[in-house]
Amino acid sequence: MNIVLQIGYLLTAILFILGVIRLRSPATARSGNLIAACGMGIAFIVTIIRYHSFSLPLIGVTIIVGAIVGTYAAKKVRMTAMPQMVALFNGMGGGAAALVSIGKLHSLWTHGISSPGASISALFTVLIGSISFTGSLLAFGKLQEWVSGRPVTFGGQKVVNGLLLLIALILGVVMTISGGRQDLGMLWLYVIIAAAGGLLVVLPIGGADMPVVISLLNAFTGLAAAATGFLLANNVLIIAGALVGASGTILTQQMSRAMNRPIQNIIFGAFGKLATAGGAGGVGATDGVVQTATVEDVATILAYARTVVIVPGYGLAVARAQQEVRQLMEKLNQRSVTVRFGIHPVAGRMPGHMNVLLAEADVPYDNLYEMDAINPQFPQTDVVLVIGANDVTNPAARNQPGSPLYGMPILNVDQAQRIIVLKRSMNPGFAGIDNPLYINPKTSMLFGDAKSSLSHVIRALDEV
Ligand code: TAP
Repeated sequence: MNIVLQIGYLLTAILFILGVIRLRSPATARSGNLIAACGMGIAFIVTIIRYHSFSLPLIGVTIIVGAIVGTYAAKKVRMTAMPQMVALFNGMGGGAAALVSIGKLHSLWTHGISSPGASISALFTVLIGSISFTGSLLAFGKLQEWVSGRPVTFGGQKVVNGLLLLIALILGVVMTISGGRQDLGMLWLYVIIAAAGGLLVVLPIGGADMPVVISLLNAFTGLAAAATGFLLANNVLIIAGALVGASGTILTQQMSRAMNRPIQNIIFGAFGKLATAGGAGGVGATDGVVQTATVEDVATILAYARTVVIVPGYGLAVARAQQEVRQLMEKLNQRSVTVRFGIHPVAGRMPGHMNVLLAEADVPYDNLYEMDAINPQFPQTDVVLVIGANDVTNPAARNQPGSPLYGMPILNVDQAQRIIVLKRSMNPGFAGIDNPLYINPKTSMLFGDAKSSLSHVIRALDEV
């Protein structure tokens, strides 16, 4: 029987790895998700068989409740709310790993068993899992606007964080050395300190910066799961935890590099305190002339272009204008206009945000170009249509050393022959700074909600 269970776990691990590999491209992501879900299903069945002392009716009820909640949440969630959903799931994973380890320690100690190896694994999981649990819940609350999304800082914050970590480490060492002989009060104090640490790590971070933190906490949860795998001698948990830990770490690095924010700022606080509009080296939009365009102007410019690059951003997700974008692409293609899409790695509010939106509207993957591939093409591009993107096109990132965006790689849309920007107002984007692109003589602004502007442009194209 044991060999069958081990083969089941091995199959699970293989399916998880295949799933992650396929998640790397939008073209294969759906099947990757399905493959990984099959792996999870097998792991689930194998675990129930392995621990046959479980109460089957209880497991049945749990599965039904979990399936209903999961299906409902996945169907109902809006694309713009995806980061908080991930935060919630991640928090549950961290909390579950911590609970399993608390249970294990409880069982070891009440039986007077001293096992330094198991204690270290379990205490590590309790620490990381609890941080991930409370940190993710606070991240969820900030994104959902249940608590203020503003960064909360206070004097001596770093000292308090450091002290909490030190106390937790001392408690951990004491509990490991005296394994099995101390009462559980110390363990609960340790849990409370770790949980408070999770809140304190996330408090100083602004709500809109949360996706990076969620990705970091995701990596923490992976580590906690892997450590639980060592504790339970469960290979598949070690492999799955390592996959989550590694991919979360890589994603955090990639996001912080693309946003030009060092990771240490995330961990040590005050990350996400944003500059106010026009501040920190941003060029005030009023410093130059902003040219506006009518729907008819935009339709004419697009109709007579040979090459158009569409640059989508967060505003596209807010407006839910992805279907209109595809219709516009098709209309222009009918006129033999080549349409490509320039995708910035941190456009929107979560990794792959634009890819998912455009895939939802069946925009062919081949038309999507990553930043490094599209940037050399801008000088030969007749028209760039910027739809709800702001920071990722801001030339201040290239040429204003005082700007908070300085150093962030951007889409060089200002190098195209003409630029049309679709947004509702002159308000700044996520970074809170003005965009000199809007006063560029080559730029025309079409103000309004992106979905309605695009619908009007599509209709106007029939008249050109
Ligand atoms: P932003 O710089 O945030 O700009 C979005 C723009 O969309 C705004 O200026 C807004 O202007 C416009 N907009 C909003 N709703 C609209 C609507 N209904 N119709 C038309 N326009 C609308 O977005 P971006 O260029 O995609 O840059 C992303 C930013 O988020 C970067 O600073 C990045 O560092 C940050 N960030 C990204 C991630 C990931 S992983 N993607 C994670 C965290 C943070 P109006 O209000 O005037 O319409």
